[in-house]
Amino acid sequence: MPDSSLFIPVILGTPRQGRQSDRVAKFIVEQVAARDRLETELIDIRNIAIATDDAGESLKDPQFSATIDRADGLIIVAPEYNHGYPGLLKHILDTCLKEYIHKAVGLCGVSAGPFGGTRVIQNLLPVMRELGLVTIFYDLNFSNVKQLFDESGNLIDKPTYIRRMERFMDELVWMSTVLKYGRQEVSLDKKDSIQVNTHANKPCPEIAVRMGTDAIDTVLKVSNNAQTGEVEATAVT
Ligand SMILES: Cc1cc2nc3c(=O)[nH]c(=O)nc-3n(C[C@H](O)[C@H](O)[C@H](O)COP(=O)(O)O)c2cc1C
Repeated sequence: MPDSSLFIPVILGTPRQGRQSDRVAKFIVEQVAARDRLETELIDIRNIAIATDDAGESLKDPQFSATIDRADGLIIVAPEYNHGYPGLLKHILDTCLKEYIHKAVGLCGVSAGPFGGTRVIQNLLPVMRELGLVTIFYDLNFSNVKQLFDESGNLIDKPTYIRRMERFMDELVWMSTVLKYGRQEVSLDKKDSIQVNTHANKPCPEIAVRMGTDAIDTVLKVSNNAQTGEVEATAVT
């Protein structure tokens, strides 16, 4: 019997003082935790100490990396800042790569305005794809967020948001389950011989050296050989 439990942490995507998104993230964590066979935890990006004089995997935080590595899916709570995502959220997301691959992600937009963070969600989509995450086709939107919670931080119209979350979670659980099965059971063996670069069409010096070509600006073109069915890589300079 396959293990049907899933670990789906929630990333709170802003460190801002007075942020409203923390109320949204706490509500989401509660709802995820209430579901059968789901484990979750809140990842507050405010608690990740990160330098700003470098970028990418060299800034990997061991705890963040281990949590993402263990995750089967993710929920990102992203407030809309000038129609985009908070810079610190992107800076932290960029510290991992392999940890995300073939895992599901659901996006939650938060905004002071009436559009529920739809623009931050649109802007996050290409980032998710490049990280190797698989987005679901439902989002969560919290518009006019300042009016949604009472003084104690509780959602005023909880039933509406519980209903919306159910649809979103059904999809996220389905996608996370399918991808977990895929990661465990579906082999990528055929491609092992060429060690596919996770960042397709980008310079890949390590493989270029093995192919005996110029390592500086070699880009690999990956294609399927129509006769043998084998995946082939050719160097394009
Ligand atoms: C730098 C910055 C830019 C913002 N830009 C937008 C925006 O483009 N659209 C919008 O609806 N709200 C915008 N807001 C308001 C936030 O959406 C609002 O603060 C909301 O509560 C969610 O963010 P928070 O978690 O930081 O509170 C912006 C807030 C900041 C701090």
